[in-house]
Amino acid sequence: MPGALPSQHHVDRVARRRAGLAKWTKYGADVLPAWVAEHDLGQPPALRERLRELVDAGAFGYHYGDEPMVEAFCRWVGRRHGWSPDPGLIRPTTNVVQGVWASVQAFTTPGQKLILSDPVYYPFQDLGPTMEREVLRWNLVRDREAGPGEQGWHYDLDALESLLRAEPDARILLLCHPQNPTGRVLTAEQLARIVELALEHNVLILSDEIHYDLVHPGAVHVPTLTVPGAESCTITITSGIKTFAIGGLRCAVTVCGDEALFDRLARMPQNLLTVPNRLGCEAAIAAWDTGDEWVDNLKGVLDANRHRLIDRLGAELPDVGVHLPESTFLAWLDLSAWSPGDRPSTWLREHTNVACESGPKFGAGGEGHVRFNFGTSPEVLDEILDRLVVGLGEG
Ligand SMILES: Cc1ncc(COP(=O)(O)O)c(C=O)c1O
Repeated sequence: MPGALPSQHHVDRVARRRAGLAKWTKYGADVLPAWVAEHDLGQPPALRERLRELVDAGAFGYHYGDEPMVEAFCRWVGRRHGWSPDPGLIRPTTNVVQGVWASVQAFTTPGQKLILSDPVYYPFQDLGPTMEREVLRWNLVRDREAGPGEQGWHYDLDALESLLRAEPDARILLLCHPQNPTGRVLTAEQLARIVELALEHNVLILSDEIHYDLVHPGAVHVPTLTVPGAESCTITITSGIKTFAIGGLRCAVTVCGDEALFDRLARMPQNLLTVPNRLGCEAAIAAWDTGDEWVDNLKGVLDANRHRLIDRLGAELPDVGVHLPESTFLAWLDLSAWSPGDRPSTWLREHTNVACESGPKFGAGGEGHVRFNFGTSPEVLDEILDRLVVGLGEG
């Protein structure tokens, strides 16, 4: 069964620890991991076979793997997302964060302004200080107070318009689309308005779409670069690493909307732009060219897991604020009812032996929250939830 997901009912924890995966080794064997954004559900068989072939051949030398990788990427996004990027406008990079930093470097100078939307993938909080750019906030808005029926978070487009009018020097809008940690997925209409505003205010959209494959029933991922007019103001950075759990293999793409953007990015010193790892390219090609059915199965497991999470928390821990995520394997849990302090993940680990990420690292809106990874087998998820129920139930 080429598309089967053999690991969906069993995660071999001992093997994962022995393999030295950060997710399974950062904390002791008594802790169950729900922290780093990596799922435990394996890879398409063809990906592993290709890597095995390369290992057996000792094929670790210099290589010309980038172009076939870019072509495989275009085939994948064409089939899966109805998106036909021009391969000539794609710059392969080592990883997504590096593509973001390189773009900020290429398109702005120190002191210029970029916009972040908190709560957001926490490494982005380093952009301002490490690149000496001024950070403006267009934060997500919480829909309602924590408790049963929580609807999640949304973007306020009128607030973006006001911000851009008030800050004519803003140069970059960094979109996390789909959004980590809330799972929010922007609609075609919202993206059209964002593009319109970006064009009007001369802002470059950097669209991090790393979670694009994992959007659940009820929502649809619209690649920003498919929105009319986006070509001249958008760079999309993505990769297969979240879908296929291959973050250690280092391979990503930076997709420019037009030649002017591509040429400006290409003026960066090549050795700062860097290139992907060969094993990462080969893994991505194998996954993109054979992985459709496998990803459909993966999404089925994740969809069931997100409902399981919401149902169990609603029934057994109703004081946890949580909404059904539209995408990813990440849930954004509000533990404020327990006053978990400045480091909610540490507090939670001490009470439950479950490791999450601390909400305050994600910026405004993260107080009292943890980011919870449900990308694991249903069996491990249930064990994690059992621990939360016992540990928080006692609290
Ligand atoms: C939104 C987002 N961007 C980027 C990354 C990291 O990607 P990379 O390891 O390719 O830099 C992650 C990982 O969690 C992420 O969630």
